[in-house]
Parts: sequence; structure tokens; C-alpha cells
Amino acid sequence: MAMNFYCPSNIFFAPGSLNELPKVVKMYGGTKVLFLTDPGIVKIGLADRALKLLKDDGIQYYVYDQVESDPSDEMCEKIYDLAKNQNCNVIVALGGGSTIDAAKAVNILYANPGPISLYEGPDKVKHHGLPLIAIPTTAGTGSEADSNAVITNVKAKRKMILVGINNGPDYAICDPELTVTLPPSLTAGPGMDALTHAMEAYLSKRATPFSDINALKGMALIYNNLAECVNNGKNLEARSNQMLGAVFAGIAMSNAGQGICHATTAPIGAFFHVPHGAANAICLPQAMKFNAVAVPEKMVEMGVAMGMGDSKTLTADQVVENIFKLSEACHLPGLASYGITIDQITEQFITEVVEEYSASCNPREIRREDVIPFVQACL
Ligand SMILES: NC(=O)c1ccc[n+]([C@@H]2O[C@H](COP(=O)([O-])OP(=O)(O)OC[C@H]3O[C@@H](n4cnc5c(N)ncnc54)[C@H](O)[C@@H]3O)[C@@H](O)[C@H]2O)c1
Ligand SMILES: [Fe+2]
Repeated sequence: MAMNFYCPSNIFFAPGSLNELPKVVKMYGGTKVLFLTDPGIVKIGLADRALKLLKDDGIQYYVYDQVESDPSDEMCEKIYDLAKNQNCNVIVALGGGSTIDAAKAVNILYANPGPISLYEGPDKVKHHGLPLIAIPTTAGTGSEADSNAVITNVKAKRKMILVGINNGPDYAICDPELTVTLPPSLTAGPGMDALTHAMEAYLSKRATPFSDINALKGMALIYNNLAECVNNGKNLEARSNQMLGAVFAGIAMSNAGQGICHATTAPIGAFFHVPHGAANAICLPQAMKFNAVAVPEKMVEMGVAMGMGDSKTLTADQVVENIFKLSEACHLPGLASYGITIDQITEQFITEVVEEYSASCNPREIRREDVIPFVQACL
């Protein structure tokens, strides 16, 4: 059996590791940083803290601090146009998956001609741009350790996935202390996104022993720490475990692919602007219910890895039930609370779901007629 396994970044994981930023920039010969972040990170004072570290070490920077959630191709092209004559020689992304993905897309433009939509799909990017340092502040997407960039195509109203060995960050500074400021909803959504990465990767038709080991370790860490992070956000041990789990899960996801949950939440994000994490938190239990009938043994294997019971007595239905309970403990409302009604699920939406790469990885075939009942159950 042919197998491939890839992780683009050196991962440095430690509480307090943000302080290493100047050293890492200098390791890449950086003298001027293109610094990307979003308004929420500015508001909590984290952007200033990171910029002071650079300044105190004599490193110059050009800042773009308005990265939007679900970054668009138009915004990434604008950032590149603003930054291209600033003589930056390293990019730093401080934020969640949106900021890190935006930095990946901007970095593609540093070494490849635009527009960014040219690079949708696998292996389109021929040249790696500047050294890219990712500093995640959510514990969810795994973008810091994978080669995917999820970018909204504004005109096509679709989330594009740009995948390839030239897209990923070179270095990830994973500092769980940065996640203690996340409010419960931004802990729960990205946290459940990470659990989805691990579980869908394990069930994927493209799973390998390389991805499985990361998936199982990731889901165990997340399942046993996420509720504590939501309810007691200052618990650094739980935050560390959650962040580590999200890294494992992201590596598993980017190597094995996903399934019906991500196939559905991609158009839900593009059509209805539901945050990616919240959408996965809502849809994950239904996705596991949909797949349990097809792969009950694998469902039990996951349950055992997460400590739900032993392989002789645990059933696939109990595993699914426990995922429903975790989702409920996250206190995230259903899709209907975002104004979604079932009559908005158009033929185009259904086509997007069944044609998603994630759908082709799902262990149970997703037929067009499965989509509306699935969304209905998630309302
Ligand atoms: N590249 C990948 O492999 C991959 C995987 C899954 C999802 N994604 C993409 O990632 C994006 C979602 O990323 P996300 O879930 O990390 O959220 P995000 O980056 O969109 O951030 C959401 C909000 O959280 C705030 N925030 C971030 N860190 C904070 C902190 N420490 N304290 C307080 N507030 C904080 C931000 O200011 C922002 O308002 C989507 O576009 C999704 O499609 C990418
Ligand atoms: Fe995701």
C-alpha cells in the first residue's frame, strides 16, 4: 500500500514560548517582519506584546491587523499589494486559523503570480514564499502544522482549499498560555473543530497508520480536556492538552482528509457565514451518527482511545451518544440560530457538499438525498 505523510512546520510547543519569537525570526535571517493579526488579538493586547518583543530585539515590522474571519481571496490580494514594497523578509501570523491561512495565501503571492484562485486544489503552488512563522491563539484548526489554506472565493461564494508542500508555515510557536483569554464560545467552537479533524481523519477512506496515530492521540487529548477548557479557561494544563491535541488532529486531518461533517460545514461557512468551529461543533455528532452504521468497529476503536470504555462492552451508539453530550456541554446553539432554514438548502449547496474533497473521504457514501436530512438534523 502506498502511503504519504507530511508536516511542513517545525513545531515548538511550550507555555511561554511566544517570548522565543525574536530568536526564531533571526534564525531565518529576518530583519523586517510582515506581521498579520486580527482586531480581536489587538483588542486583548496580544499583538502589542508580540510587536514589543520584536522591537526590543531591533527587528522592524510592517503590520496588517485587520484580518477578517474566513479570509477572502480579495483581502489576501490586498494585503500582498500593501506589503510587497515594504522589504519584509519573514512573515509572522499571530491569531487563529483565519490569520494563519491568510498568511499562507499572502505568502503564496510572494513567490507566485496572482490571483490567489489560481492555486485552488492540490499541488498548484510551485514556489515557496518567505519564511512563515505561525503562532496559533485558538486551539482548533491545526493550520500552524499543515499545508492547507482555506480561503473564501468572494465571487464564487465558495471556500477554496489550497493544498501543497509550498503552502505551509515553516515554524509553529505553540504557546498554550495564549489561549487562556479565549471566551467559552471561542474555546468550544475551534475545540470541537479539532475533535472533528481527529475523528473524521480516523474514519477517512484515506487514513494511514501515520494519520491514525496522530488522530487517536489528538482525539484522546481533546475529548478529555475540552469541557474543562470551556468551563475553567484558566486551567493551563487543560489548555496545554487541548492545544497539543489540536496540533495532532490537524496533522491527521491534513494527511487523511475529512468526511461528511467538513463537506457540509464548508458550504455552511461560505453561504451562511457560520463560524467554522461552531458549525463543526453542531454537525459532528450527526456526522458520527451517519457513519456509525457503516463503520461501527472503528467507532468503538475511537471510543476506547478516548477512554469511554473497553472494546468488549463499548458500542458505536454509546460513542456517538458521548459526542452528543460533549457537543451539548459546549453550549453552542444549532444552525437555526444562524437564521438557516431548510428551504435555503439549494441544489447548488447540495452539489457543493457531494463534490467536496472531504465527501470523497467519508467512509459511507454521501448521496444527494442524504444532504437535506443531514442539515435538517443539525438545525
Ligand atoms: N488550514 C486549515 O487546515 C484549517 C482547518 C480548519 C479550519 N480552517 C479555517 O480557519 C478559520 C477558523 O479559524 P479559528 O477557528 O481558529 O478562528 P478565527 O481565526 O476565525 O478567530 C475567531 C475569533 O477568535 C478571536 N481570537 C483568537 N484567538 C483569541 C484569543 N486567544 N483570545 C481571544 N480571542 C481570540 C479572533 O480575534 C477572532 O475574532 C476558518 O476560515 C476555517 O475555514 C483552516
Ligand atoms: Fe475544520
